[in-house]
Amino acid sequence: MTRICIIGISGKLGQYMTEHALAHGYEVVGVCRPESVGKLDRFKGRITVFPARTDNADVVAQAVKGCDGVLTVLAPWGFTNYASGTARAVLENAEPGARLIFSCGWHITKEGKDRYSLGQRFIYGFLTFIAWATRLADISDQVRATDMIFASDTAWTVVRGSDLEEGESEGLPVWARHVGDPVLASNLTRRTDFALFMVHALTDDRLIHEAPAIVGRNSASAKAHPEAVASVPA
Ligand SMILES: NC(=O)c1ccc[n+]([C@@H]2O[C@H](COP(=O)([O-])OP(=O)(O)OC[C@H]3O[C@@H](n4cnc5c(N)ncnc54)[C@H](OP(=O)(O)O)[C@@H]3O)[C@@H](O)[C@H]2O)c1
Repeated sequence: MTRICIIGISGKLGQYMTEHALAHGYEVVGVCRPESVGKLDRFKGRITVFPARTDNADVVAQAVKGCDGVLTVLAPWGFTNYASGTARAVLENAEPGARLIFSCGWHITKEGKDRYSLGQRFIYGFLTFIAWATRLADISDQVRATDMIFASDTAWTVVRGSDLEEGESEGLPVWARHVGDPVLASNLTRRTDFALFMVHALTDDRLIHEAPAIVGRNSASAKAHPEAVASVPA
């Protein structure tokens, strides 16, 4: 892995991924909305930024050229199919064989084997309704985006984040294939470690065609399953 592209590089997750990718020695290019370029000032001279909406297929095609890996923040903002447009732009334009890593939340399900508590179902339903009623976000478009990714024959991984908190890194999160696995019960990950897992996934071929649901390695539920913690590098 030498050159990577971060689609949605100016957001919180995008900036953490940039830090980790630079620390790994990768050459970093990224795409973000023109009005957000200033958020990346601290990386000036160390990254290349393509200012555009992340569903702009022409700009995404330029940005991902020559990249062995693409990290994509799937954000369901507005009602213009932003998340699915972003996913399509990456899937159709990435280099053949490139590792493609996408971010989303636990609410996304790949094979319908996730088990959600009543509380989680209520919260997801409530948030989906509020997002729809205020026309702020279209959660169903994030579902369309990930369905498109799951059906793709590219080397994809969809990383499903738990609830997030800020704070120092605890190291690589623990993951499970299905929500409802007891190791995930704490439902909390440091945002910087979500980003660390996204960057780690670029070079972990065991994660190809997986949709890992992650949780912080120092969370109570992870600590209660030391075998799961031991299975991921610190
Ligand atoms: N927040 C959580 O608790 C949580 C939990 C689990 C998983 N996730 C996942 O984590 C990823 C990052 O989410 P985040 O909540 O942590 O936020 P974030 O990292 O700040 O990312 C939000 C992204 O959405 C873009 N954005 C914001 N407003 C927009 C608009 N009106 N139109 C178009 N793009 C817009 C941002 O770009 P600009 O910099 O241009 O604004 C940024 O790229 C997402 O894939 C999300 O599904 C989040």
